[in-house]
Amino acid sequence: MKSKLPNASTSIFAVMSKMAADHNALNLSQGFPNFESDPVLIEMVNQAMKEGYNQYAPMPGDLDLREVISQKTRSLHQKNYNSATEITVTAGATQAIFTAIAAVIEKGDEVIIFTPAYDCYDPSIELFGGKTIPVQLKAPDYKVDWNEVEDKITYKTKMIIINTPHNPSGMIFSESDMLTLQEIVEKHNLLVLSDEVYEHIIFDNNTHFSAARFSALASRSFITASFGKTFHNTGWKMGYCLAPEKLMTEFRKVHQYNVFSVNNPIQKALAEYLKTSDRYLDLSVFYQKKRDYFLELIKDSRFKIIPSKGTYFQMLDFSEISSESDIAFSERLTKENKIASIPTSVFNTDGEDFKQIRVCFAKTEETLREAAIILNAI
Ligand SMILES: Cc1ncc(COP(=O)(O)O)c(C=O)c1O
Repeated sequence: MKSKLPNASTSIFAVMSKMAADHNALNLSQGFPNFESDPVLIEMVNQAMKEGYNQYAPMPGDLDLREVISQKTRSLHQKNYNSATEITVTAGATQAIFTAIAAVIEKGDEVIIFTPAYDCYDPSIELFGGKTIPVQLKAPDYKVDWNEVEDKITYKTKMIIINTPHNPSGMIFSESDMLTLQEIVEKHNLLVLSDEVYEHIIFDNNTHFSAARFSALASRSFITASFGKTFHNTGWKMGYCLAPEKLMTEFRKVHQYNVFSVNNPIQKALAEYLKTSDRYLDLSVFYQKKRDYFLELIKDSRFKIIPSKGTYFQMLDFSEISSESDIAFSERLTKENKIASIPTSVFNTDGEDFKQIRVCFAKTEETLREAAIILNAI
């Protein structure tokens, strides 16, 4: 049988996590916290189960939850999304991304993505007959060259996928980036998928410039979000998508035959939990403390470091330590030094290697101390 995804293989996250387990290494590779989600939220989920919210939720999501998402977006970005027609709750951002792509990408469409890119965009595009057109961001600052983007637009281009704050580099899009993007997509009549899963993890008093803030951009964008990233429960796989009604109508046509609806008791709990805005507004301070704690501990290491501006990832440049490829270097670190990271060339166009590995600092202080001892000795 002919494979529909001939190039897909085991994801680097699974590979590195398995290698970490096999070699008893500290696992800073995959992006998940090693501390618990708020017990108050867990209790709310239990309560919702006890109260009988154990059958199918409405197809687009629990209405109370959609309403708080709408209020949150209005208060943060001054943009109104209609909870009835423009918000859908999904099984994590991954499902939202897949569904948005499935809803609009047809055979022959070209989709521009920025590499290093999160690994689910390309296979989703390919599955629906689209073609990924990568624009390579370059270390150390991973800034977008918008002239290069315009050069890659053809009559086949249908969509641009952005991700801010950006995994793995920790780069963030500025207001001017978003305004330029808006100009380009209006000029060429393109759609946008704005992957904003790290929207609440942004440092040094920077602002998260959501696509929701720019009305012409928002009118052609799917915006995807992840509760797993925000509330330390990536295993619950809960997220949502925002889009104007004409796009959301198409999104829901796919959603209703794919998952139909997602976890009901967790939606009920999130609807309640989100009413206290500090629970997500305090997240940047929480993670900035972790970033600063970790970077202080490794400041005398031989890695070259530019502090992450957002996400819970930090890039470590090892070019002064070794001339190995990043894949060889991170494998050796896992097996010999007992610390697992992600070699970032796997997310780049043609595997371009900037000699940078990605580590996740969504870890307890104890784990960060252990990690620092190892990294300082390399
Ligand atoms: C940039 C980016 N997008 C999407 C996702 C997926 O989010 P979720 O776990 O909610 O599916 C991740 C998870 O690592 C991510 O880093």
